[in-house]
Amino acid sequence: MELFEAILTRSSKRDFEDRPVPKETIDKILSASLRAPSWANSQPWEIAVSTGKTSDIIKKEIYERASKDDPGCPDFPFPECWPEPQAKNMFESGKHRYEALCIGRDDTAKRLETVLSNYLFFGSQTAIFIYIDEKLTNWSILDCGIFIQNILLCAHAAGLGACPQAYLVRYPDVLRKTLELPESKKFLLGISIGFYKKDSIINNIETSRVKLNDAVRYYD
Ligand SMILES: Cc1cc2nc3c(=O)[nH]c(=O)nc-3n(C[C@H](O)[C@H](O)[C@H](O)COP(=O)(O)O)c2cc1C
Repeated sequence: MELFEAILTRSSKRDFEDRPVPKETIDKILSASLRAPSWANSQPWEIAVSTGKTSDIIKKEIYERASKDDPGCPDFPFPECWPEPQAKNMFESGKHRYEALCIGRDDTAKRLETVLSNYLFFGSQTAIFIYIDEKLTNWSILDCGIFIQNILLCAHAAGLGACPQAYLVRYPDVLRKTLELPESKKFLLGISIGFYKKDSIINNIETSRVKLNDAVRYYD
């Protein structure tokens, strides 16, 4: 797949088939992704791939916590409020998604179900978790963002779907315990990855972007 095409056609997928991704495919995606640039080639990312029983344990524990409305304690706190331009983008995006899914504003049960599906990896058996050492700075988080986009694009090019999810790292204590990692490892993001259901409405919702001229200023 040509690079521009990959970038222009990738989208987050949120409805997966219940079957495993071959390890060779994950290895191929991650080996290519590891070519990401980073500050002085520091390569700050650490990666845990969860499948099988490990995924079952994580899903059970984080789903239970989320169902009880436990806010968790993310290593990188979730923003509580957003400035106006971003708040507007997020509001419009959410509105578009729920309209496409025919879920009304007052349908709290359906809305909750949609949110909770995050914690079940959207039905996938596999998730990739990205974490970093606590001694690292914001520059390393920037490096990880670049690395994560590589994963999303390579997954797409390999015919898989993926969704980057802050929600998957809402309960980092569960992740550290299950993955046997020390307190010094801090979770940035989880990515559900797998074979996605091609005809599912949620997998075919197009997200919009701010127009080029509103996003960019050119200086001569
Ligand atoms: C840092 C980050 C965190 C995200 N967290 C979630 C999440 O917890 N749940 C979710 O469904 N999508 C999550 N997303 C996906 C975004 O909602 C999605 O990328 C955005 O709406 C644009 O849609 P697209 O990926 O289909 O282009 C996250 C994306 C990023 C980059």
